Amino acid sequence: MMDKNKMIDAELLLKMVNASNDGVVVAEQEGNDTILIYVNEAFERLTGYRDEEILYKDCRFLQGDDRDQEGRRILRESIDKGEPCRVRLRNYRKDGSMFWNELSVTPVFNEEDQLTYFIGVQKDITTQVELEEQLKQSRS
Ligand SMILES: Cc1cc2nc3c(=O)[nH]c(=O)nc-3n(C[C@H](O)[C@H](O)[C@H](O)COP(=O)(O)O)c2cc1C
Repeated sequence: MMDKNKMIDAELLLKMVNASNDGVVVAEQEGNDTILIYVNEAFERLTGYRDEEILYKDCRFLQGDDRDQEGRRILRESIDKGEPCRVRLRNYRKDGSMFWNELSVTPVFNEEDQLTYFIGVQKDITTQVELEEQLKQSRS
């Protein structure tokens, strides 16, 4: 059983999060926007942006002009309701290249049950989606 009082050292936790191969970000609600307050190194590698370029921005900039996406509408609804969700999105790196992002967003509430933060985990599933598309084509 895990001792509830045993806390992981903050520095070690940060090291773990930065060792993750998937993107990990924390965002804070500000009106209709959820602005980035932390991004890990894998997020910087995945998107090609450095943290200082994107902190305090809403993550929607990763969609570029490609905004007409089902996943985007699901995200909007889930964030408004304060519910977790997992979606697939077309996103664009700083150099303009596209990748498929499997994004998991989870709200984090404080002790007063007020919504304060969201945690997002980004996984590059481009190879998987391309294989799925090839399979669909070869079947039709
Ligand atoms: C923690 C968190 C991480 C997010 N990460 C991404 C992301 O990696 N790519 C993306 O396109 N949108 C991401 N979003 C979603 C956008 O910030 C935005 O909520 C979404 O586009 C829906 O709102 P909109 O229709 O007002 O743009 C994230 C949102 C949150 C809260």
